[in-house]
Amino acid sequence: MSTQNVQFHDLHSSQDEFTTDVVQGLNQRPAMIPPKYFYDAHGSRLFDAITELPEYYPTRTEVGILSANAAEIARRVGTGSLLVEPGGGSCAKVHILLEGMRPKAYVPMDISKDHLLLATEELAIAFPWLEIHAACTDYTREMSLPPSTPPGTHVAFFPGSSIGNFDPDGAVDFLASIAQLVGPGGYLLIGVDLKKDKTILEAAYDDAAGVTAQFNLNLLTRINRELGGDFNLSAWQHKALYDTQRGRIEMHLVSRCEQTVIIGKFRFNFAQGESIHTENSYKYSREEFINLSARAGFISDALWVDEEQLFSVHLFRQATTTENN
Ligand code: AVI
Repeated sequence: MSTQNVQFHDLHSSQDEFTTDVVQGLNQRPAMIPPKYFYDAHGSRLFDAITELPEYYPTRTEVGILSANAAEIARRVGTGSLLVEPGGGSCAKVHILLEGMRPKAYVPMDISKDHLLLATEELAIAFPWLEIHAACTDYTREMSLPPSTPPGTHVAFFPGSSIGNFDPDGAVDFLASIAQLVGPGGYLLIGVDLKKDKTILEAAYDDAAGVTAQFNLNLLTRINRELGGDFNLSAWQHKALYDTQRGRIEMHLVSRCEQTVIIGKFRFNFAQGESIHTENSYKYSREEFINLSARAGFISDALWVDEEQLFSVHLFRQATTTENN
């Protein structure tokens, strides 16, 4: 077994940033913590478990769309590209594209180093012809390619509707940074969850087996372990609600009682019923998302939707002018 085709670049830095984000976020009202901190090793495993849940339709639906259209995607973007996947920690969906697209190199970027290492090693064994440049980085802050990546048409792959975890203006900024990364003529292949019935959405984020609740609460376990916190997990309850007006699922941790939490040298008071807002997951109609992407400099090249109209996969091409230029 050889994994010599993998190069690993640790571009991620600081634990201080985690402390700052948590302390600032818990001092705000409503209190909030950015969702990127869900993904320590255990959180990443819990997220993988979420993707297998019967209620969580996005993953299997997107996989179905990508599998059914892999040949068409390859035909449109061509072979020999540089395939970049921000957040590609588990490298799970890229498998579907690799044989058809035959990219020159694959660049997964992820904040979770262990997850990235394990997944790229498996990928290297499955696709020995593929050059892999794994970058451990927080792609929400820094979107640059590791040194020594080969030239070729840049294709960004951003599946899973992770774009929904940004607010719409943040999504435009993020897409604009992808537009800059891929350059003129580059592509973006992106999975976007569609607006739909509230009951389907709320079940997807509050499953019967309680895996999403564990995923949400793991954030507190992580703060306890890494930042010296004393959160009592049984004093917090997972809540997921769809806000139809804003078109977003909101996840919260709701305090079951009045309580004080200590994190290192900081103290935070919470009233009963007060919540920590941990995640938004925006849902977009096809037109809404095409308009949003146009603001970042992308034009629609193709669009695929499953039969039940649960999920969409867009292929965009970078046009040269953006709102942010
Ligand atoms: C990663 N992201 C797209 C997931 C979502 O659906 O917003 C995260 C998630 N949160 C709870 N379940 C899944």
